Amino acid sequence: SIYADSDAASKAIAHEIAAIIRQKAHEDKPAVLGLATGSSPKKVYSELIRMHREEGLSFQNVVTYNLDEYYPMEADAVQSYVRFMREQLFDHVDIPAGNWHLPDGTLSLDKIGEFCKDYETQIERYGGLDFQLLGIGRNGHIGFNEPGSLINSRTRLMTLDLTTQIDAAGDFGGLAKVSKKAITMGVQKIMEAKRVVLCAWGEHKAMNVARAVEGQVSSDVPASYLQLHENASFIIDTSAASQL
Ligand code: GLP
Repeated sequence: SIYADSDAASKAIAHEIAAIIRQKAHEDKPAVLGLATGSSPKKVYSELIRMHREEGLSFQNVVTYNLDEYYPMEADAVQSYVRFMREQLFDHVDIPAGNWHLPDGTLSLDKIGEFCKDYETQIERYGGLDFQLLGIGRNGHIGFNEPGSLINSRTRLMTLDLTTQIDAAGDFGGLAKVSKKAITMGVQKIMEAKRVVLCAWGEHKAMNVARAVEGQVSSDVPASYLQLHENASFIIDTSAASQL
């Protein structure tokens, strides 16, 4: 779907998420959400916060699993996705403390494999993700599934592409300081989500949106895998749609 601007589009996405949360609460079940970081989903989160404050939207039954976290990364560092999610959403709604999860950037290397397996097992125990929110990187990545990631890739430690490191350099105070790796949910768990929404705003995303939507399905553009998902949408603004 193409919207005039990111405000309208973000509201539509937030309303879809809220409908899932309310439906699941009605059924007395958890709403299991896969969440994303980056600038793109920020307005989705602010709209959810507004709905919590003004419309009584409760997050008591919400369980979340974020896509990724830099490695290594302390939870309270400015660049940490834990910090991002707390500031953008979790600290402003009534989600129970143990209900939100992110990959752990503080683990020792030898613990990562086990952690990743457990992350997926937890999601599976809930019956999978009800909704997965995604942004798209400049090289077509989703989460930190860089080009070359397979459709059945698992949650794992990834080495970040140079373009991804360059895009993160601003946040880290220079390219040399950027984390060279990240723990990311694999493409497989994203593809298993019952509903997937990728959001993208602005001219600088247009080329990759076009490659992902209209190009060949290929590991060169991990977002192109969404063409094979039966319930995935790109919700974008007119500038991100300008190359379609
Ligand atoms: C990072 C995140 C991605 C995100 C991408 C784009 O690489 N790991 O999940 O989609 O940035 O970020 P932005 O939304 O700021 O353009």
